Amino acid sequence: MSEKVYVSKHPLVLHKLALLRSKITEPKKFRELVREMAQLLFYEASQDLELAPLTVQTPLGDCPSLEISERIGLMPILRAGLGMAEAVLDIVPTAHVWHLGLYRDHQTLEPVTYYNKLPSKPDIDLSIILDPMLATGGSAIAAVDILKRWGANRIKFLGLIAAPEGVRVLSNVHPDVPIHLAAIDYYLNEQGYIVPGLGDAGDRQFGTG
Ligand code: PRP
Ligand code: URA
Repeated sequence: MSEKVYVSKHPLVLHKLALLRSKITEPKKFRELVREMAQLLFYEASQDLELAPLTVQTPLGDCPSLEISERIGLMPILRAGLGMAEAVLDIVPTAHVWHLGLYRDHQTLEPVTYYNKLPSKPDIDLSIILDPMLATGGSAIAAVDILKRWGANRIKFLGLIAAPEGVRVLSNVHPDVPIHLAAIDYYLNEQGYIVPGLGDAGDRQFGTG
């Protein structure tokens, strides 16, 4: 496995992942779990954020301190990345959120782009793509392609469950993009679903399908 692929071993992540996968988990609980897992994985994925010194006045005097100096952009892939973006935004409220509309054509499994309102030039230092599922990898690669064409040069992918095929192809096409996950599963089935996975992440969050 590429040295830029990080699969969490944190007990909280693994416990919540089991609940997330279960077919009896209802959309309300499912959304809570996506949210909690996104925050835990972001915590792990953000250990290399750049810091700058500042001095804070406490009630007792000056205290040498640190603040995050990178401008962070969150790029949720619609629809399923939405719940992850809100969760991460709660931890980094100054982040910019740029939604990317991509869906998989059900016949070809190729990604189709339908929404992108990125400003003309990058106004951030670090772009974090958020999507719970990395299946064929087509959507993630398309998202990275969009961001690189835009001019982004520090990009991370944050997902929940991946198929080995998706991890392989994303790492091959964009070896500079670290991939942070809760699990890498067994394989993709003929319909392009991750097995055992959790089913359709968008449908399970939003009660559709
Ligand atoms: C799902 C998922 C990813 C994509 C992954 O979205 O959220 O975006 O599939 O598959 P890939 O790696 O094979 O590209 P989907 O197309 O179902 O759209 P939705 O979130 O709007 O339901
Ligand atoms: N998208 C999903 O929501 N689930 C999968 O298993 C694959 C792609």
